Amino acid sequence: MLHNVLITGGSGYLGGTLLARMGAANLPPYGKLYASARTTAQADSLRQYGAQPLSFNLKDEAEIWASVVENKITVVYYLVDAISYGPPLFFIKALAEVKKRTGQTVHFLHTTGAKLFSSHAGAPTDRPLLDTDPRLYDIQKSQRSKLSLLQEAVNSSCAVTEQAEQHDVRSYIFVPCIVYGKSEGFGEPIATLRQIYKIVQAAKALKRVYRVDPDHPTWPVCHVVDNASLYIELLRKILIDGNPSHGKNGYYLASSGSIAWDDLYSAAGSALAKRGVVSSGEVEMADDQIMEEMGAALGAPKEFVPLQLGGRCTFTARRAGEELGWKPIYQPQHILETVDAEVGWILRHLEG
Ligand SMILES: NC(=O)c1ccc[n+]([C@@H]2O[C@H](COP(=O)([O-])OP(=O)(O)OC[C@H]3O[C@@H](n4cnc5c(N)ncnc54)[C@H](OP(=O)(O)O)[C@@H]3O)[C@@H](O)[C@H]2O)c1
Repeated sequence: MLHNVLITGGSGYLGGTLLARMGAANLPPYGKLYASARTTAQADSLRQYGAQPLSFNLKDEAEIWASVVENKITVVYYLVDAISYGPPLFFIKALAEVKKRTGQTVHFLHTTGAKLFSSHAGAPTDRPLLDTDPRLYDIQKSQRSKLSLLQEAVNSSCAVTEQAEQHDVRSYIFVPCIVYGKSEGFGEPIATLRQIYKIVQAAKALKRVYRVDPDHPTWPVCHVVDNASLYIELLRKILIDGNPSHGKNGYYLASSGSIAWDDLYSAAGSALAKRGVVSSGEVEMADDQIMEEMGAALGAPKEFVPLQLGGRCTFTARRAGEELGWKPIYQPQHILETVDAEVGWILRHLEG
């Protein structure tokens, strides 16, 4: 029997590009493609990808159950929320029921984020942390974050792995990092919640670019198209043999490599100075008062500013290349080459 696939978050930055790229991906045959929609306009847009829109309230287990079980969905890609545990568990339970009724393997992909594998979340950062490390699940279990929201996200990610294993559902922890580039989807083309956007937002308010870490940390990066191609390669493997590495070995970081935050700030500083948004492209270290003002500009408490604009993450992608043959098109330095254009789009967006 062919797999029926559900993509959630298709109106978003990552999900939009995934859906836009699926048609030309020459995927093995699958049954029906479903995509979640919250409005009729979204439902209409989703149909252009051959996807049948489904509407459900993520907080309502019965609605998720009905959508998944009645449509015999066997693959769920969850691209909505990296923090809450409720909806992923509802999907896992519904998938288990489909397996019981059809005998097919069932698959749940949970999208988290590189922050869960960073200094902010108490992950080890004194060495490369490989996504193929067989102890990764145990490392995640032992992590402690000072930020309760991040601890909740780490706990949820571990719980997805545990619950899926318990329900005989194959689970994948998909990890986007600093993602850049314009979305190819029908929704907002720029990721307004993401790091470059926030650098620009803060700099516009403070008339200067500030760094938030006293040392010079690095962070993994990925073009949005490469991020989408990893979602697709994983789906290809699921459709071919249903057996990509999963569960406690199912971590997939989508990244071509890392860059230094300082280089990103400098590139953004130059792009902003060129446009007269900051008087100088030089980057200064933020003190406590500046951190407060950056928080006000970003609409976040001061403690959340380093989480949004810095930190150390040594998480390193191995699995997708080794096991799926995933080859990103863009090297990490590419982000620095595109910051200028990216800053231009963001300023136009901010100026509305
Ligand atoms: N982009 C990145 O750089 C990045 C990096 C790391 C991790 N992530 C994680 O990856 C996931 C997707 O990111 P993204 O950048 O694509 O986010 P996004 O652009 O904000 O899109 C989020 C998607 O989820 C949908 N959604 C949100 N709340 C929902 C709800 N209650 N019920 C149903 N649908 C809901 C949105 O639908 P509407 O359009 O109707 O609002 C949209 O389709 C998120 O969990 C994010 O934290 C992203």
